[in-house]
Amino acid sequence: MRTLGVLLIAPFLLASAQALAADGADLYAKSCRRCHGAEGKSDTTMGAKLEIPPVAGQEAASVVEAVKAGGRRHSRPAENLSDEELEAIGTFVEAL
Ligand code: HEC
Repeated sequence: MRTLGVLLIAPFLLASAQALAADGADLYAKSCRRCHGAEGKSDTTMGAKLEIPPVAGQEAASVVEAVKAGGRRHSRPAENLSDEELEAIGTFVEAL
C-alpha cells in the first residue's frame, strides 16, 4: 500500500520540482542575467566593470541572502521578488 502511494505521488512531486526549476530559470533570466550571465559566471560587461564574483553553484540559501541583503546593485530585485521567487532563483543558481 505504501509503495503504491509513493508511486502515485511521485509524478506530481517531479512535476512541481520541474515547475519550480523552470520558474527559477525564467526569473533569473529576467532579474539577474544582465549582470551575472546566463551561466552564473558574471562574465558580462557589467560583471567585468563591477568585478562581480561568479554566482554559479552557490548554495541557494546564500544566494537568497545576498539578494535580500540588498546593496545598491540588488535593491531592485530585492524589492520586486517574493521570498518564493527568490528561493526558486536560489535553487536554479545552485544547480548552475
Ligand atoms: C545591476 C547588476 C546586478 C544584478 C541585476 C544582480 N546582481 Fe548580484 N551582484 C552584483 C554585484 C555588483 C555583486 C558584488 C557584491 C555587491 O556589490 O553587492 C553581486 C553579488 C551577488 C552575489 C554574491 C556573490 C559572492 O560570491 O559574493 C550573489 C549570490 C548574487 N549577486 C546573486 C544575484 C541574483 C540571484 C540576482 C537576481 C535576483 C542578482 N544577483 C542580480 C550585481 C548584480
